[in-house]
Amino acid sequence: MCGIVGYIGNREAYPIILNGLKRLEYRGYDSAGIALYDGTNIQMCKTKGKVSDLESKVTSDISTAGKLGIGHTRWATHGIPNDVNSHPHYSMSGDLVIIHNGIIENYASIKKELIKRGYIFKSETDTEVLVNLIEDIKIKEKVKLGKAVQIALNQVIGAYAIAVFDRNKPDEIVVAKLGSPLAIGIGEDEFFVASDATPFIEFTNNAIYLEDEEMAIIRLGREVRVRKIKGDQLVDPYVQELQLNLEQIEKGGYEHFMLKEIYEQPTVIKDTYRGRLLADQGIIKLGGLEDYIQKFVNANRIIIVACGTSWHAGLVAEYIFEDWLRIPVEVEYASEFRYRNPIITDKDVVIAISQSGETADTLAAIKLAKQQGAFVYGVCNVVGSTISRETHSGTYTHAGPEIGVASTKAFTTQITVLTMIALKLAKVKGTISKSNYMMHLRELELIPSCVEEALRSDEKIKAIAEVFKDASNFLYLGRGYNFPVALEGALKLKEISYIHAEGYPAAEMKHGPIALIDDQMPVVVIAVNSNHYEKVVSNIEEIKARQGKIIAVVTEGDTSVKELADYIMEVPKTSENLSPLVTTIPLQLLSYHIAVMLGRNVDQPRNLAKSVTVE
Ligand code: M6R
Repeated sequence: MCGIVGYIGNREAYPIILNGLKRLEYRGYDSAGIALYDGTNIQMCKTKGKVSDLESKVTSDISTAGKLGIGHTRWATHGIPNDVNSHPHYSMSGDLVIIHNGIIENYASIKKELIKRGYIFKSETDTEVLVNLIEDIKIKEKVKLGKAVQIALNQVIGAYAIAVFDRNKPDEIVVAKLGSPLAIGIGEDEFFVASDATPFIEFTNNAIYLEDEEMAIIRLGREVRVRKIKGDQLVDPYVQELQLNLEQIEKGGYEHFMLKEIYEQPTVIKDTYRGRLLADQGIIKLGGLEDYIQKFVNANRIIIVACGTSWHAGLVAEYIFEDWLRIPVEVEYASEFRYRNPIITDKDVVIAISQSGETADTLAAIKLAKQQGAFVYGVCNVVGSTISRETHSGTYTHAGPEIGVASTKAFTTQITVLTMIALKLAKVKGTISKSNYMMHLRELELIPSCVEEALRSDEKIKAIAEVFKDASNFLYLGRGYNFPVALEGALKLKEISYIHAEGYPAAEMKHGPIALIDDQMPVVVIAVNSNHYEKVVSNIEEIKARQGKIIAVVTEGDTSVKELADYIMEVPKTSENLSPLVTTIPLQLLSYHIAVMLGRNVDQPRNLAKSVTVE
């Protein structure tokens, strides 16, 4: 949940690292720091706050010259966010300097031993313990930095992506990975290190993604040497050609990444089905699925594991899969699943959904399912991410980089992929009629234009946001396919505006939440055309009878709800099964505008980080 960047080469390291940290700030933003080797010494600057705070501090505090450096943007785990706990951390002698993304779980016992051996600690972090352990081993065993790192990592329990260098050997950086991502950019006589490839995309398209339990010694004038941390054997690294471009990771004229990403949805949904959905021919082609169709079709059960918004996409998939495929589906919070001794057999298929492909809980759930013999299929956005590699097979969403912490386009592209999987499998299994299958292929193809149309209500939604921006609570209600959308709408509002919001199945309201309704309570109801329409209208009547303020998402041309609701947000008509792909759009916009009006940091809401790589 932190971002790390490093550079070694012939350019000035500071601007590369600073810019890299800005791009990685989505991973954590409570403190930041940088260490540069100036030719003789290490220059270090760290601060609580954002990368922009670091930038203001750096120029007055240190010299920024140097062709070797490392930087860090933090999401605190051990020790409060302050200057001292910020990374990088020195070893006690001041020779070694380290950045770390992850958690060293057994740091307390190692620290105790090191204190006995005379080590003094300045911070409360597990990372300072690690760098001193490395130093201690280096001195005690009289080994080089790479070996000392390797020995140290064999003694620690936890997760890490680290980069460390020695001021007495300023031609190399040693990096290692377990559980947190680490990419090495390979340039001409220069190397980059980062939590993802965005910090170096304008310099090189060639990258090595370290696997878990691998480390690399990156030395100028030499090829990157990768080896196993346990067992020591050398690994022939796969140099991947990156498909990223700079435009994809910039705001492109939008005020926030979140808004840009909301508006990208028509394009990225199309990108996600392009070449896979051939509606005219009645074909869905999903490379990752072809060899495993029988596994799915013969499964006793499908278990979906995910967190947050991805979990909501999983809930939508539950409705779709059970309706079309007639296989029981369970949707599990990965964080609960991994710890509750679940019953999993080799007749189960597990689908893991994750935008980042790095979420620690989802990853742990996958490992557990694999150990117990289940086949695990991934739906990830980030190519080459840990989850995409840990799963037996999978399908990528093609959402492009999602930078805003609030997930938007990941949700709709995940549903797009899951819909294609369900349709394809249902056709093979014979549980969907040909006409229904063909109708949904065509409907899915039309979704991007429906989303475009839904986006046209933006100004109207902004006006509704103005009315309700000062409310302290919101209720979101939906039924059937749109119950998960109600949950997702509430999550979006909570995380970026800090207004309390709850999502509920509309019929469940009577069993408790209805007590909350009074003339101060805005209730967002998804009331589009569906099998439940009449029932939802009754729920709206119940809210109205208690003076609740009704903001309804309705199908264009609706008349009944229009008469009852205080405000309406219209979306075009779609098939009920696909409706979450459009009903979620006004809810994303509503949260976005409320958060902006309240002056919140929309792209980097407090206490959150984009990828949750710790438990
Ligand atoms: O990268 P993942 O999809 O695995 O992330 C899961 C959640 O952490 C994520 O969806 C989170 O809930 C978002 N902030 C929601 O907007």
